[in-house]
Amino acid sequence: KITKRERLFKINDLTSRFYHKILVDSKQGKLAREYLQKRGINLETINKFKIGYAIDSWDSLLKFMMKKDIKPQELLDLGLISPRKSGNGYYDRFRGRLIFPIWDSRGGVVAFGARILGQGEPKYLNSPDTPLFNKSYHLYGINLAKNNIRDKDMALIVEGYMDVIACYQHGVKNAVASLGTAFTKYQANLLMRYSYNLGICYDADAAGSKASLRGLDVLSDLGCNVSVINLPKGLDPDEYLQKEGKDGLELLIKDGQSLIEYKLTHSMENNEIIAIQGKLKVIEDLAEDLLKMKSFVLRQGAIDLISKKLGLPSETIISELKKINQEVK
Ligand code: UTP
Ligand code: MN
Ligand code: MN
Ligand code: MN
Ligand code: MN
Repeated sequence: KITKRERLFKINDLTSRFYHKILVDSKQGKLAREYLQKRGINLETINKFKIGYAIDSWDSLLKFMMKKDIKPQELLDLGLISPRKSGNGYYDRFRGRLIFPIWDSRGGVVAFGARILGQGEPKYLNSPDTPLFNKSYHLYGINLAKNNIRDKDMALIVEGYMDVIACYQHGVKNAVASLGTAFTKYQANLLMRYSYNLGICYDADAAGSKASLRGLDVLSDLGCNVSVINLPKGLDPDEYLQKEGKDGLELLIKDGQSLIEYKLTHSMENNEIIAIQGKLKVIEDLAEDLLKMKSFVLRQGAIDLISKKLGLPSETIISELKKINQEVK
């Protein structure tokens, strides 16, 4: 006899195989196959990530599951169907979408992400939180990436499903995605089982840089070595790989900025550093992180960098930091 939880895992697994088979092996999956081909995803990758397709029907999954004697209640618990608004019955959550199964680190299917083919809202529809899935705890790609993260002693954190998949297909096999939410300490803890060196490589747009900053704080507070990998404006890792390939991305990874460097660059973009008030604002922006640094050597290095970039003597910056430290206390 199996537990309720094991049964839910079984149903999710069955669901992922159902959608995968439709994608790779049916007439109804043709448009979706063409879409993936256009995006450069090959069959080996489709199989590796068990990408699937949910046809545009109200009840294709529901019907399939009924035939297998699986009750609506369990599909409801897994967020795979919803009750009809009027009358009785249920309808499939995912319709006319590519399906990306999301695994836990042991390889159990915990949830699904689903992308519309082409334009439309929402672009991605994900499973809700369920007994198996909490989006703050899971990372897309962790099951395939974990051994590579350990071997390379580094994890690459990207924003999206397609970024993880493109990285993998290009041979960068240590990438995981935080599923469209802010990076959490639970996700950091999961990664830290495999490595303390984490590279954030988010989309080079406003949303991505905001998310990078938040992620940086979460990670550095836990004592990770974080670096930020900067893509050219407007691109995400998938798009960058299409243009520059694995070698291009690996060069950028090597050029990653430390937390302080990244925040310095960011703050200097937001302040008029020609003016003395702008310089002061930059120091104030960085003060908390500088004061938090436990190593005097690393802190001095950071201060020297700021000194160079702002054209202020290190001693002035140190005095200012002391003053800020007093005011905090
Ligand atoms: P992006 O909008 O950057 O999408 O969102 P993407 O990953 O580059 O996707 P493609 O290349 O257009 O297919 C990044 C991530 O944010 C989450 C998803 O996890 C997505 O991969 N997201 C985005 C959602 O959950 N829902 C959305 O509507 C959009
Ligand atoms: Mn297959
Ligand atoms: Mn984006
Ligand atoms: Mn993309
Ligand atoms: Mn993107």
